[in-house]
Amino acid sequence: MQWPSHGGQPEQMWNMFHQSRPQSVLDFSANLNPLGPPDYIQELIFSALKQIRRYPDPNYEEPRQAIAQAEGLPSEKVLLTNGGAEAIFLVAHWLRNKRALIVHPTFGEYERACQQHGLQITPLFLSHPPRFEWPLGEIVAHLSDVDVIFLAQPNNPTGTLLDADTIRSILSAARRHGCYVVVDEAFVDFLPQADSLTPWLKEAPHLILLRSLTKMFTIPGLRLGYILADEAVIEELAAKQMPWSVNALAAALIPHLVADQTFVARTRDWLLAETQFLRTALTGLKFETSPFTANFYLLRDGRSERWSKEQAVSEAEALLAFLLGKGIVPRHTHTFKGLDGEWLRFAVRSREENEKLVAALAEWTEQRW
Ligand SMILES: Cc1ncc(COP(=O)(O)O)c(C=O)c1O
Repeated sequence: MQWPSHGGQPEQMWNMFHQSRPQSVLDFSANLNPLGPPDYIQELIFSALKQIRRYPDPNYEEPRQAIAQAEGLPSEKVLLTNGGAEAIFLVAHWLRNKRALIVHPTFGEYERACQQHGLQITPLFLSHPPRFEWPLGEIVAHLSDVDVIFLAQPNNPTGTLLDADTIRSILSAARRHGCYVVVDEAFVDFLPQADSLTPWLKEAPHLILLRSLTKMFTIPGLRLGYILADEAVIEELAAKQMPWSVNALAAALIPHLVADQTFVARTRDWLLAETQFLRTALTGLKFETSPFTANFYLLRDGRSERWSKEQAVSEAEALLAFLLGKGIVPRHTHTFKGLDGEWLRFAVRSREENEKLVAALAEWTEQRW
């Protein structure tokens, strides 16, 4: 089967399972904030329309200043990108033909970007599912053999976090070996504490943080992200970037979005309430889940550990087909190395949608246990 490589492609899922699209659809496959996009975006885009008659400022001074101010950094440490995806591919382009360490299961675009730019990849794997812990000893041991490591805070799809001790160990070993540490913070705004690694930038010139405005503000169609790193790194990355990579309408939103702490705080309150609800409901239904750190989680049958890999995968696929039949679309995990279809990933949605999901899962448990 040719599994779709990203979430948010429900049509493909029904085609694969030879099902027709149900009347009502609940899409849990893309990890986007259900509270967004904020209302003011439409008005801002409308008033920015006059700017499409000229090229954007190639250095994006104003939006970079706004990001710098929000992050407490000089604007020389900021580079605007066409979504978090461009940031990933730009780093891989810059480190063309070098060696990369990737810790799976993780976002597939690190591997794709490295392959596209000829990097030699060493794969490692998170340990102890469902907790999915960083294999710190193995990571540190491999840093002498690579030029860059790709990590994520939090990691997609497992929700694994980098705590201060872990990041300190990785940064200090990487520095000794001349290795760059890339941390993708596409979902960092969802974390209840300010868990970004931004404060580490001051003492770590080899740390590169990738950000996305897509997930928090529900704007996957706009394409907005940025990189935070040492001035010298930013300069080298900028030299590889396509001119005018971010369009004027998207760039015009930046000062408003990065200053909007009210929306972020409201989102965090919603997420806290929903993850509490889901944790209780799903454990009660005998499912096993990954930690609820961000706005997504992995789920599998609580008996999977006792089953063979084949049986666990086949049960997850049966559950996937069952949910699709009810118009509920999870993200399959066949394209996440190390998960290989054994888990399903769900976005945290509104209470009403989460309740519908829990009701469908309760029906499934009733049939299968
Ligand atoms: C971990 C991670 N990083 C980056 C991206 C890409 O984000 P953007 O839409 O801003 O390119 C995604 C999108 O799914 C993601 O999951």
